[in-house]
Formats: sequence, C-alpha cells, structure tokens
Amino acid sequence: MKVATHQLRCTECGARIAGSAVNSIFRCPICNGLYDVIYPWSTLPESDTPASDSKLPNASALRWLWQERRTSTLSVDQSGVWRFRDLLPIVDDLDNVVTLREGNTPLYDLPRASKALGLHWVLAKHQGMNPTGSFKDTGMTSALSVARERGFEWVACASTGNTSAAMAAYAARAGLRSIVFIPEGKIAWGKLSQSMDYGALTIQLKTDFDGCVNVLTDLVNRFPIMLLNSVNPYRLEGQKTPAFELVEQLEWQVPEHIIVPGGNLANGSALAKGFTEMHHLGLIPRIPKISIIQAEGANPLYLTLQENGGEQLVPVKANTRATAIRIGNPASWRKALRALRTTGGWCEQVSEQEIALAKAEIGSEGIGCEPASAVTLAGLKKLVAQGKIGPEERVVLILTGHTLKDSTFTIDYHRNELFTDEEQAQISPTDQLVHAALRKPPVVLEPDTDTVFRELESQMRLALA
Ligand code: F0G
Repeated sequence: MKVATHQLRCTECGARIAGSAVNSIFRCPICNGLYDVIYPWSTLPESDTPASDSKLPNASALRWLWQERRTSTLSVDQSGVWRFRDLLPIVDDLDNVVTLREGNTPLYDLPRASKALGLHWVLAKHQGMNPTGSFKDTGMTSALSVARERGFEWVACASTGNTSAAMAAYAARAGLRSIVFIPEGKIAWGKLSQSMDYGALTIQLKTDFDGCVNVLTDLVNRFPIMLLNSVNPYRLEGQKTPAFELVEQLEWQVPEHIIVPGGNLANGSALAKGFTEMHHLGLIPRIPKISIIQAEGANPLYLTLQENGGEQLVPVKANTRATAIRIGNPASWRKALRALRTTGGWCEQVSEQEIALAKAEIGSEGIGCEPASAVTLAGLKKLVAQGKIGPEERVVLILTGHTLKDSTFTIDYHRNELFTDEEQAQISPTDQLVHAALRKPPVVLEPDTDTVFRELESQMRLALA
C-alpha cells in the first residue's frame, strides 16, 4: 500500500525538502536547524467540517478508525503507534514497519500525590510500560521502519541508555546492525544489558553523552549509517503518538497540563506536535500546557531561560543521578523552547533530593519509574507551590522509563546510601521524616520464626504509631 506523502521542513528557516533528500546528520544545510516532518494537511487551513474531498483527514472518521483497529489482529493495528498511522504516513509500504507492539501504555491515577498536592486530578501516562521499558520505543518503531525502507544496513545512536536499548531491539527485529555509543560508567546497568542482549555493537566512550554525540556525528558523516538520535525527525513522529493515545484514553478530553522530563529535549516538542496536529484537525478543542523539568545538575534549558530569555543555549557540564537526562548540550533545545512558548508551559529544575523523594512516592503508589521520570512529580510540586497549577486543573505526568531500568538507584535510596553526608545535611528535618517513612530497606534476620515474629511485631507497632 502506498501511503507516504511527507516532506521535511526546517524548524528554523522553514526550508522544505523531500524526506529522501535529507543529509546524514538531519540538519538543514542552509541554517543548521532541525527538521519536522510535515504532510499535505499540516499546512491546510483548519475547518470544522472538512468537505468530503478535502485532504484534511476527518476527525470523527479518524476516531472511529483508531478505535476499530484495537480489535484487529494485524501487527500494525496492534501497535499503539501505527494504529494512528493516518497521521504519520512516513513509509511507502506498511510491510516495512518494524514493530514490537509498542504504545498502548496505561494511564494511572496517582491518588496519594493528588491528595498531598491538593489537586483533584494527577495522572501518570506510563511510557515505561513499552516493550523495552521506555518511551523511546514509540520513536524507534517509526525511525527504524524508515531506515529499513530506505535500505540502510546500519543504524547508530549516542545514548544515556534508553535510546540505545530501544534502537538495538528494533534494529534486531528489522535485521539491521546497530552501534551504540554510551558514556562509560554513567549509564544504568539495566539499560547497558539491554543493548548487549539485543545484539548491538556497544561502545563505551570515556566521555559524557555530549562527547558521544560528537563522535557519532563524525561517523555518520563518513559511512552510510542512519543516525537514530532524536534529531532524526522520524523518531518524533512516533513519539508524538502518546498524545493521541492519551486523549483517546480520556475520551477526547484534554488535560490542562502535561509534564515531561527534559534531557536532549526532543520529547516535549514531539508531544506538542501531536497535540497541535490533533487541534489542527479538529480532534481536540485546545492544546494543553507542556512543561519541561530538568535536574538541577543538568539544567541547560532552565539556565538559558533564566540567563538570556532563551536567546542562546547555556551548555553545562552535566551531573545528576538521573543518568537518563545527564545531558549538558541538548540538541533540540530550540524545539523545546518553541513547545514551551506555543503551549504556555514552564521549565523548572529539581534537586537530587527532590528527584529521589518523588521517585519513592511514585513507587509507593505501586507504579514505580526510573529517576529521570520522577522529575515530573518533583517539578509538579514546584509549579503547584508557585501557584502555576490550580486545584481544578488536570495534570498528566509522562513517566518515561520503567523502575527496573535503574534498580541500583532504588536500592541505594532504600538502604539510605544514595546521598553523600553533605547532601544529607542539607535535607530539611521535615523531608528527612518523609524519606524515613518511605524507605523500605531489606531486613536481614536469622531463619528463626520467633525472631521473625518479633521483627514483625515491632514493624506493626511502628506502623500504628
Ligand atoms: N526520560 C528518560 C527515561 C530518558 O531516557 C530520556 C532521554 C528523557 C527522559 C529525556 O528525553 O531527551 O527527549 O528530553 N534519554 C536519551 C537516551 C537521551 O539516550 O536514552 P529527551
């Protein structure tokens, strides 16, 4: 089936090119800007009731079609990304689609967090429930499908761990070879094990994420390897689909706020693109505010906004235990800035202590997530405290990674071994009590019933106190 009808448009100078004409670094040769994928209908004027011959897809027909596909046994229909393929026609032949049935992730409520914050409605869209345990799968299914269709034999990325895990899995499914560059010693073991398991050539460089990007850029310039970092606009076509799935799960109601973690800064703009397209097509009446939260130790966007109002990126030497977002020179910062500005969202930063606390709170609701995902709840607390989010407003946190991605962080936290003495000293007495109540370290006992009984009794007394 022939369905591809897209172009790439530079997000800086607006120059348009055919998808197949793009260079290996996915940057505009005129101004070095990044691209967005656009379709014939992207630029058509909005219309409430598109005429039957209009090129603008019809909103109610789309809603119906997407619902119908849920009961299909076809793999492209079972994918929570390709089910929405009418709004991402990026491959000519659907036989080229590489899917692990990604998407279809749950939307949970967080009743304890809502109560603590005085909000009626805090939800978590858990993108960690994807096949490789992170939101990256939604983008890898789309980009790998394009790579396969264009005849690439090799794909590569630089990664803090999740991109590499997802790319390796989808490349393996597609029968392509993959190379990952990861910063040595700065990625969670779960993620490192995945890229090896899925058969990638895993190269640990003695540098940080930003150093890995530099080497990768040189490599793709010299060899026919498709670059699969989030500068690749085909990834963002998949990453926009959780926006569709989310409002569908809410019966087409639009929450007021979406909160995402910020690392290389592509995901916020991908979701903004999804919401903007739905709005353009009349699927939703308005676009939610999208806010981006960074770790204090990896806060280039936050700093940029503080120091020069978003004029020029202030790169930083990144350092945070939320290793997924340990990025000091994010490629897509301009796209992220545009997403903040067009949706009216905010950029906040949160400390290591705030991240750990939020992660434990999400865990205690039976949900769990990796540290980088927990910045969303930590950031929400700040936005509520600043009066930017009111009690009646509906908030959706995008939890980007599964809790098992980084079990070392979780174990260190519960054993009270995460923070340095200096950091411990800075935690307020109130927060110390909250941490103490959340920590559930393993208890080591002799295998003797009386001893176990005594321990249980003392635990129960503590619980009642
Ligand atoms: N959350 C998790 C779990 C991530 O792995 C990442 C990025 C982000 C949030 C930030 O998303 O980059 O679009 O702002 N991880 C990349 C990687 C950089 O290599 O896995 P972003």
